[in-house]
Amino acid sequence: MAKKLNIIGVMTAGGDAPGMNPAIRAVVRTAVFHGVKVFGVEKGWYGAINDHIHELTAHSVSGIINRGGTFLHTKRCPEFKEKNNRHKAVINFRKYGIEGLVVIGGDGSMRASVALINDFKLPINVVPASIDNDIPGTDFTIGFDTAVNTAMEAIDKIRDTADSHERLFVIEVMGRHNGFIAADVALVCGAEIVIIPEVKHNIEAIAAKINKGRQRGKESFIVVVAEGAESGSSVRDKLAKRLPDMDIRVSVLGHIQRGGSPSAFSRELAGKLGATAAELLIHGKSGLLVGTKSDRVNPVPLNKVGKLIKKIELEQLRIAEMLSV
Ligand code: F6P
Repeated sequence: MAKKLNIIGVMTAGGDAPGMNPAIRAVVRTAVFHGVKVFGVEKGWYGAINDHIHELTAHSVSGIINRGGTFLHTKRCPEFKEKNNRHKAVINFRKYGIEGLVVIGGDGSMRASVALINDFKLPINVVPASIDNDIPGTDFTIGFDTAVNTAMEAIDKIRDTADSHERLFVIEVMGRHNGFIAADVALVCGAEIVIIPEVKHNIEAIAAKINKGRQRGKESFIVVVAEGAESGSSVRDKLAKRLPDMDIRVSVLGHIQRGGSPSAFSRELAGKLGATAAELLIHGKSGLLVGTKSDRVNPVPLNKVGKLIKKIELEQLRIAEMLSV
């Protein structure tokens, strides 16, 4: 039988995502329930290297279930790519008797966790949290739903003013290397056009579609562009050349998409995934990405998903396109 762990650590790393707080809460409360001591690592991998580690209790995570961001803080930490820095982190973990970790983060955190597991055999389970939803091995990441809702509310407001002024708005949304947020908001906001990195776009065809819409009497347009495909201002410039008589504006939604109180769905994921990741770790099962598949918690080996690339649902794009004529 696998050995039970008595002391674990929890951290958030990479870009924050709404739902990280309820995920930390789930890990801490699960550990407390099982009589396991739990330490919080502040500021992600940077805090691991530099010993920003302290004990958490059930009370430490009171009142955070509805708060955006992460109360443990997070930081981008390229230094963690160096093995000697990873070694420093492991020395710090040992100092507190930490026998295993739950890491709440995105693709970078997953790669860092795999490196720690391979180099130092440290038991780790990863809980996928990123507004980008780009982690293979899980249908959804914590924070994605909240970010889509935030972007949707912003675009609905922009639609009001676009309609009043008969304007075309190019709206840039986040998604560093992918178009998951863009594809979802395009569907739920009825955007006329969506541009994402996964699908080659043709600016002439986009301008032609807009002109066709105008001939049919359409007066305002929303073009959603994922930042990873092209900047909103570059799309605006290209469209302005082809549609000289149109009033075109650009709006970059930016980090507003990373903040705010987590939605019910993000909190639900956080609770289920955080608790399962902690329970599995405590009972000696690690090296897992604890995500979801078809609405069920679905732990998968990290080494199987680490190198995969999550694919966008092309059918969803087709439907968005069909509905936006
Ligand atoms: O966390 C994901 C993400 O929000 C991406 O969508 C975006 O490209 C990036 O992080 C921005 O990172 P930073 O806040 O470090 O500039």
